[in-house]
Amino acid sequence: MKIIFSSAESDKRDAVVVTSLSSAKLRNAAVTLDTKTGGALTRAVKATGFKGNAGETVFVPGPANENAKHAVVAGLGKAAELDENKLLTAGGSLAKIFNRRGVKNIDVAVDAVRGKKAADIAAQMALGAVLDSYSFDKYKTEAEKRDNRVLNFVVDDPAAAQQKFEKLSAVSKGVFLTKDLSNEPPNVLYPESFADRVVEEFKDSNVTVRVLDEKEMEKLGMGALLGVGQGSARPPRLVVMEYNGAPDSASDGDKRPVALVGKGITFDSGGISIKPGGGRTMKYDMCGAAAVVGAMKTISERGAGANVVGVIALAENMPSSKAQRPDDVITSMAGKTVEIANTDAEGRMVLIDAMTYVQRNHDPKAVVDLATLTGAIISALGNEHAGLFSNSDDLSEKLISAGAETGEKLWRMPVGGAYADGLKSNIADLVHMGGRAGSSSAASFLEKFVEDGRAWAHLDIAGTAFISDATGYGVRLLDRLVEKNYEVKAPKRRRAPQNRPGQ
Ligand code: BES
Ligand code: MN
Ligand code: ZN
Repeated sequence: MKIIFSSAESDKRDAVVVTSLSSAKLRNAAVTLDTKTGGALTRAVKATGFKGNAGETVFVPGPANENAKHAVVAGLGKAAELDENKLLTAGGSLAKIFNRRGVKNIDVAVDAVRGKKAADIAAQMALGAVLDSYSFDKYKTEAEKRDNRVLNFVVDDPAAAQQKFEKLSAVSKGVFLTKDLSNEPPNVLYPESFADRVVEEFKDSNVTVRVLDEKEMEKLGMGALLGVGQGSARPPRLVVMEYNGAPDSASDGDKRPVALVGKGITFDSGGISIKPGGGRTMKYDMCGAAAVVGAMKTISERGAGANVVGVIALAENMPSSKAQRPDDVITSMAGKTVEIANTDAEGRMVLIDAMTYVQRNHDPKAVVDLATLTGAIISALGNEHAGLFSNSDDLSEKLISAGAETGEKLWRMPVGGAYADGLKSNIADLVHMGGRAGSSSAASFLEKFVEDGRAWAHLDIAGTAFISDATGYGVRLLDRLVEKNYEVKAPKRRRAPQNRPGQ
């Protein structure tokens, strides 16, 4: 799909779209089109009971006095509630118009709404259309061609809209990267090939990538991560991505990075504690890692003024004669020994070594990990909210408010205290699971590996990262978290001090 901003209608248009607020009372471009078509829009709105909600559309096929096959009214919702999410939703409804037979060129007439410029509205809607047009058809040999589709936004200031849209395109690049990685089948995307993809993605960019192989991990004592990977023919990897966008003039405190850590199980069979059904959909068990990679992409592409380090722990959880057993005891990088109760509780094991690595090597001011960690979070929160577990009210509020803005909702859940009681082992420092509240006990296990005084948050995204398809959950949330809270703008350079004699 190609996005264009212009001041003129296209003479090739197959569909012409005008917008409407939730009163469904037509205004501006809609009135013009309605008059031209002899009141066709007014009649369609009445006949269908169209309310003008964001994402709602009403079609007028074969409108009078109009070359386009369809005239469409697209709802934006209430003027007072016209935020980023409503515009993305409304934009998403435009992508669906292409599914009508014979529609390749769409014109959208965009008007200003109460203090919001038409150019800004058009740019946000364009992003919504782009995000909703995503499809993963790399493995479909007869995929429909979509690159001949054109979405033309007709606005008063096309240059401003274009500029805004280009800034926003960092977002779609990150989200698409996350979805592409998430959707890859596990025979194609395994720890080594995942690491290669990350290296490839960031070569010639402002992100430096380091890949640790199993030998380096052994040297560092990453027994937890290595233990999960040992049953697979595909060896594990740890990938570190560093983006340093804080200006040189920033204070030392401002230069401390924010750390993003992702669970990257490229396939979770459960291991020896094998999943009934063998783990169908568990290729998505690397969505946390994919979200971290996508967020690094967006953050670096838009040149954020912050230092951010991303670490992803990659392993394949498989049963074999070399696989980890329930009852094994491993030594983690942090030095704590852990008794394995169930090899299907592997996510927390790969995360703790990644968390120790980033805390020791990067001294981050905050650590946020993302993981498709527990089925229990789906029982608790469904696909609506991700579970948020944190030792910091401040970091929790920052995450919740960023997620509210981007529509990636979070719900805070308890961690530690009595929820950690089940983690006592008879023979090791800890056992990695225990207790009725599966998501909170998993988070409590992770918390044992958070260094004193360090702000940490864990997002359990098992219910939000994929439903029947990857959602890209987390990319916009993490980007917004950084944008709102951790960016340092380079201060304007001061004029050289003048010599003032006689003082
Ligand atoms: N990857 C799964 C969690 C999961 C389940 C993600 C369903 C998405 C959908 C995780 O590794 C796992 O197997 N968790 C177990 C933990 C249990 C063994 C303590 C679970 O949730 O059943
Ligand atoms: Mn598992
Ligand atoms: Zn898993």
